[in-house]
Amino acid sequence: MAKIRLDKYLADMQIGTRSAVKEYIRKGRVRVNEAVVKSPEQKIDTETDTVLYDDKPVGYHTYEYFMLNKPQGVVSATQDTKEKTVTELITEKNRKDLFPVGRLDKDTEGLLLITNDGALSHELLSPKKHVETYFAEVMGKIGQAEVIKFKEGLVIDTEFTALPAVLEVLSFDEAKNTSRIRVTIHEGKFHQVKRMFEAVGSEVLYLKRLSMGTLVLDESLAPGAYRRLTEQEIQMLKETRNIKKNG
Ligand code: URA
Repeated sequence: MAKIRLDKYLADMQIGTRSAVKEYIRKGRVRVNEAVVKSPEQKIDTETDTVLYDDKPVGYHTYEYFMLNKPQGVVSATQDTKEKTVTELITEKNRKDLFPVGRLDKDTEGLLLITNDGALSHELLSPKKHVETYFAEVMGKIGQAEVIKFKEGLVIDTEFTALPAVLEVLSFDEAKNTSRIRVTIHEGKFHQVKRMFEAVGSEVLYLKRLSMGTLVLDESLAPGAYRRLTEQEIQMLKETRNIKKNG
C-alpha cells in the first residue's frame, strides 16, 4: 500500500505546482472518496482512494512507460538548452520525471523506451542483460568477412574491443554501393554501431533501433509518434528481469 500526501498526489499528476494544488485543496475543489478534503497533508492511498479535482477523477500513475519512434534531429535527453528532446515529444504524460532508457544519437531513429522506472532501466542497460538490434544502411559491400569479425569481437581502438555481435547482411545495392544490415549488440557504448562499421572500413549512413530486450518497435508508429506500452509489453520486460535475476 503506497500512501502519499494529497498535494503531492495532485502535483505528481500535473494538476498544478505544489503551491497551486494547495490552493485548490483549500478552496474545496478536491474530494477524496466523495468528501471534500481541505488539508493538503491528508494521506492518500494511491491504490484504493478515489481523488476528484473539479469533479473529474485523477488516477495516480506511479510508473509510466512509452514507446517512442525517435525521429532524427531530436536529442536523447530530458532537457537541453538548444535542442528538442525526446521527452518533450511525449505530450500526454502524467509524470514529470520521465527519461529515455539509453541514448540514441541525434541522427538515429527508432525504438526508445521512455519511463520513470529507474530500476527497470538499470536492469535493461546492465551488462548481463543488455541486448539491442539495429537496422542500418552502410557504405560498401558487407560480407562474410565482416560477419566473422563482428562475431569475434571487433577491436575498435586501444581502449575498446566490442563484445561479440551478430551481423546479418540483408541486401546489397550495387548502384549505390551500400549494404542493408541488421546487427545485434550487447552493450551501448557511445556511437557503438557507427564505430563498429568504421572499424571494418565502412560508414553508417542510416541507423534505426528495432528492439531492446523483449521490446520491439511498433512499425505502425511513424518517426516522432509514440504510444503507451501495453500491459503485456510491460510484463514481458519485467519478467525478463526476474528470470535473469534468478537464473
Ligand atoms: N550506435 C550508434 O552508433 N549510434 C546510436 O545512436 C546507437 C547505437
